[in-house]
Amino acid sequence: MKPRILVLYFSQTGQLRHIIDNILQDIKDKVELEYAQIEPVIPYSFPWKAVPFFDAMPETVQHLPIEMKPLPDNIMNGQYDLVIFGWQPWFLNPSLPISSFLQSPSAKVLSGKNVITVIGARNMWLHAQEKVKMYLEKLNAKLVANIALVDTNTNIISTLTVIRWSFTGRKEAKGLLPAAGVQEKDIAAAQRYGTPIYKHLTENRLDTLHHELLMMGSLKLNPGLVLLEQKGIKNFRFWSKYIREKGGPGDPNRVGRVKQFKNLLIVAIFILSPISALSAAIKLQLKKKSLLKDVEYFKGLKYEEGRI
Ligand SMILES: Cc1cc2nc3c(=O)[nH]c(=O)nc-3n(C[C@H](O)[C@H](O)[C@H](O)COP(=O)(O)O)c2cc1C
Repeated sequence: MKPRILVLYFSQTGQLRHIIDNILQDIKDKVELEYAQIEPVIPYSFPWKAVPFFDAMPETVQHLPIEMKPLPDNIMNGQYDLVIFGWQPWFLNPSLPISSFLQSPSAKVLSGKNVITVIGARNMWLHAQEKVKMYLEKLNAKLVANIALVDTNTNIISTLTVIRWSFTGRKEAKGLLPAAGVQEKDIAAAQRYGTPIYKHLTENRLDTLHHELLMMGSLKLNPGLVLLEQKGIKNFRFWSKYIREKGGPGDPNRVGRVKQFKNLLIVAIFILSPISALSAAIKLQLKKKSLLKDVEYFKGLKYEEGRI
């Protein structure tokens, strides 16, 4: 009998589905594949308008769920040997559709299952993966591997291109800017992960899959980004509370604070971020040992509360 794999994912642009399709390219005829999309009842419009984009931050950071469509019964009742769970970070947390799904009754589909997380991000997913690990543990799911694909351009370039992509829908390279998102060559190269996944699954060796994928380059971590995420998440927590004092999502009373947050974020990214990168580089030298330990932890599958 062919092994049964459920592919569960959310993607506004289709990037994550494209990544997962490449991962499964070499094994799709050897397994039974079932796909289910994670969908909010009220979809977020793409491309985004500026206010709704930044207005999504407080609830994303506080994991306050939106209403999600339930998964169909045939998916909920399916027997799966493996679930591929595709997700992306928003504001250093799992996107709101993902954290909402993980808190919804449909998340029970993950209970007791082997799960591979597949991330398609700009480049900051560590804190968010910690939250995904936390939910998976609560659901009694077994995380067996994590594959993260990121935009490998510099922080400033990837921010500029992701902004253009999010607000205009245009992904292609233009002028001095490269194409937005994960580089197409890296997406194509994700095909190399399929065969080891199949082998470990059919030979009952899922426990050693993550290590093998790591050796193949499934996660590349930049220690400087650990420091930037630590700093960013503190600021997001403060701003999420400050904005919510004025009302819930879309409340006109909070638009003023949402716009203040937007302006601050732009200053932080384009003016403070080079300074933060420099101070991170200095800290990196001073705290190299402990940061390298952090990097090892974030490459792993274990969940320890409060690591970031
Ligand atoms: C509201 C919003 C916030 C985002 N925040 C982050 C982030 O904190 N870290 C990151 O690496 N990427 C971030 N991204 C990029 C996404 O993770 C993702 O790679 C990109 O939006 C592609 O979307 P898709 O997977 O829904 O197709 C953000 C995107 C959006 C729309």
